[in-house]
Amino acid sequence: MTQAGTCCGFLCRKKKAEQTMEDRKIPVHVAIIMDGNGRWAKKRGMPRTFGHSQGAKTVEQILEDADELGIRYLTVYAFSTENWARPAAEVKALMNLLRRYMKTALVKCTKNNVRVRVIGDKSRLAPDLQEAIAALEQETASNTGIGFQIAINYGGRDEIVRAVRRACEKGLLSDPDAIDGDILDSCLDTAGIPDPDLLIRTCGEQRISNFLLWQLAYSELYFTDKAWPDFDRKELEKAIDAYNHRERRYGGLL
Ligand code: IPE
Ligand code: IPE
Ligand code: MG
Repeated sequence: MTQAGTCCGFLCRKKKAEQTMEDRKIPVHVAIIMDGNGRWAKKRGMPRTFGHSQGAKTVEQILEDADELGIRYLTVYAFSTENWARPAAEVKALMNLLRRYMKTALVKCTKNNVRVRVIGDKSRLAPDLQEAIAALEQETASNTGIGFQIAINYGGRDEIVRAVRRACEKGLLSDPDAIDGDILDSCLDTAGIPDPDLLIRTCGEQRISNFLLWQLAYSELYFTDKAWPDFDRKELEKAIDAYNHRERRYGGLL
């Protein structure tokens, strides 16, 4: 029989785990380069597109996990401005997956109080996909839960070029002395969203691949060998643990 004040085994361990979770600093904004769908599928003798559909399931789960962990913004890289260079059949499959995802998300994100924003140049997407995105963004715009940004036809350089164009159109660049980072910030696709605290890239590559070039200036970078379809809550928590061991100095001294 367990006496008061002595270790009670499982329950004690569980409590300790909960305490560790509570003690952890949760990043406000996590960005993810979801990489490795194709390699994951190939390893299993399946077509690359199977990896993409598994990857889509992982996104849904990680969004829920991120929300439960108290992350306020999650941004995922779904399709880059460079991904059009892939074989037409793969691009088509990815676009169809995105179409399907927008429909599922409309129901799920409305129910779960998630606010969705698609970042990237939407003008090159098929009209029906643009409409589905607009519907999802409008439907969830006043939700107050986690902010979920999906990067589609997104490139960091392209976003900066479009931001400068937008700033020009708004007449914000007429006085060179008045141009500052805040002007550019306010014209980016991510306007109003804090910069990512933590960037995660899956499946071993250690590069940015044109993701959030402006916003990642002081983000902590975390790379894992896990392919995206195998990424789960445990892996997300591991990344958060690593983040908790980083010293963020922003060029100053601690
Ligand atoms: C990430 O997985 C998804 C997209 C880039 C659309 P990949 O398709 O890049 O998979 P790998 O890196 O080739 O394994
Ligand atoms: C980055 O992955 C883009 C997305 C995850 C959507 P890629 O697989 O396209 O990047 P590279 O080609 O390895 O740099
Ligand atoms: Mg890849």
